[in-house]
Amino acid sequence: MASQVLVAANRGPLSYALSDDRTLSARRGGGGLVSGLSAALAEQPGALWICAALSDADREAVRRDVSEPGVRMLDIDPTMYDDAYNGIANSVLWFTHHHLYDVPREPVFDAEFRRRWASYVAYNEAFTRALAEEAAQGARVLVQDYHLALVPGQLRQLRPDLRIAHFTHTPWASREFLDMLPEDVRSQLVWGMLGADVVGFHTWMWAANFASGATIEDERGIAQASFPKDGRCGVDHRRSAGDGRYGVKRVTSVDVFALGVDADELRALAHRPEVDAKLAELRAEVAGRRTIARVDRTELSKNILRGLLAYRELLAVHPEWRGEVVHLASAYPSRQDLKVYRDYTAAVSELAAEINAEFGTKDWQPVLVSVKDDFARSLAVYRMADVALVNPVRDGMNLVAKEIPVVSEAGCAVVLSTGAGAYEELREDALTVNPYDVSATAEALHAALSMPAAERAERTKRLAAAATALPPAAWFTAQLAALEA
Ligand code: G6P
Repeated sequence: MASQVLVAANRGPLSYALSDDRTLSARRGGGGLVSGLSAALAEQPGALWICAALSDADREAVRRDVSEPGVRMLDIDPTMYDDAYNGIANSVLWFTHHHLYDVPREPVFDAEFRRRWASYVAYNEAFTRALAEEAAQGARVLVQDYHLALVPGQLRQLRPDLRIAHFTHTPWASREFLDMLPEDVRSQLVWGMLGADVVGFHTWMWAANFASGATIEDERGIAQASFPKDGRCGVDHRRSAGDGRYGVKRVTSVDVFALGVDADELRALAHRPEVDAKLAELRAEVAGRRTIARVDRTELSKNILRGLLAYRELLAVHPEWRGEVVHLASAYPSRQDLKVYRDYTAAVSELAAEINAEFGTKDWQPVLVSVKDDFARSLAVYRMADVALVNPVRDGMNLVAKEIPVVSEAGCAVVLSTGAGAYEELREDALTVNPYDVSATAEALHAALSMPAAERAERTKRLAAAATALPPAAWFTAQLAALEA
C-alpha cells in the first residue's frame, strides 16, 4: 500500500541486534523525538518511516527481509554511508551549523572532500528513490535534519505531486559560516532545501539564518527571502531553465516549530521502579550534598570542558562549596568513529580527574563522571538535581533543559547558555550565561546554588510550563498542518 505520510531520517525508530546464534531482535529506540514521532505516526494509517541501516545487524535484517510495520530501512553501502554520515554530515555540515571549526586548520575542501561529497549526494538519492517509490499520489513527506538536506530538491524533481517538509534539529549556520562551503556545494545545499514547501527550525534565530543564507543567485536560479509583516517568513525562488529563462515562481515557507516535552510520558518514565532504584543509589553516593547536574552526549558543541572549568572556578572562588556540592556529569559517548570526538571524550575525563585530584578529599569526590548511556540514571539525576548546567556553545534546541524542570522533585535552577535554542523559550526563568565566559558561568552556578528553595520551585514550575508547550505529537501535527496550508 502506498503511504500518505512519510518520514525520512538517518536514524530510525528501531535498531536490530544479532545474537550469537544469529537470531535478530528489534529494539525500539529511546529519546523524545523517536517516541514522539512514533506515537504521532501510529495515528496515521499507512504511515512509513524510512531510515538507514546503521549497523551490521540492521543490514542483516534488510537482507533477510525482516521488517517491522511502518519502517523501511535502507541498506546503504557501508563505505558510502561512512563517507556521507561521518565524512560530510558529522564532520562538515554539523561543524558548519554549530560554528565548530578551528579556523587556522579547518575546514579543508580538497579532493578527499569531493569524494565524500559525492557519497553524500548518493546517500541522499537512496532516500529520495525510496520515498518516490513508497509515496502515494499527493502524500506528505517530512524529511529530518542535515543528513538529508538534498532530499527535498531531488524528490521535487521525481515527484512534483508530493507535499514536502524539511525539519532541521540543529542550528542553521550564519551566512558567514555557510559561505565557507565551496560555492557549488553551498548552492546544492540551499537549492536542496528549497525543494521543500516548508522548512522548519526550532527557533527564529535558525530560521532567519536559513532565510538569509537562501538569498542566492547562481546558475541554479534566483532565490529571495522575504520577511512579511505577519511574521511568517518565506523564500521566493525560480529555477533557471538554462537558456536565460526561469521556471515558475515557487515559495518555500520558513517556519518555527519549537519541539517540547510530553510531560505525562516523561513523568511516567521517570517514576518507573528502575529509576527509583537509581535515585536511591545516587542519593547514597551524594550523601546529602547539593548537586549540579549535566546530561549530554560527549559532543563538542555541548561545551563540557568549559562547564568543568566553571565548576573548578566555583570551587576556587567560593570555597564554601567545597565538600558541600557534587557535580554529576553524564557525558555518554557519541560519534566515536571520529578522532576529534575520541580526543574530546578523553579530555573531558582528564579534566574531571584533575579537578578531583585538586579539590577531592578522602570522603568527597567533587565530580562524578558517568559515561554510560543510561536513561534511567539520567532520569534519576533529573529528579534530584538542585542545579542543571546546560551550557552548549550552540545547540538547535537542547531537550535536557526542557526535561529537567518537568521531572524535578524539589525544583531545579537551570543555568542556560544563550547559544541553546531553548534559550528563546526559557530565558525568563533560567540563569542565562554566555557559554564562553567561564567566570560568569561559575558565578551563575554560585547564584543557582544560593537561590532560595521557594524561588527555585516557582521558576521550575514556569520552566516546565514553557517546556511542555509543544510536545512531540503536536510538533509533528503542526508540520503536517503547515503542509496543508
Ligand atoms: C542531533 C541531531 C540528530 C542526531 C542526534 C544524535 O540531535 O540533530 O539528527 O540523531 O544528534 O546523533 P547521532 O549522530 O548519534 O545520530
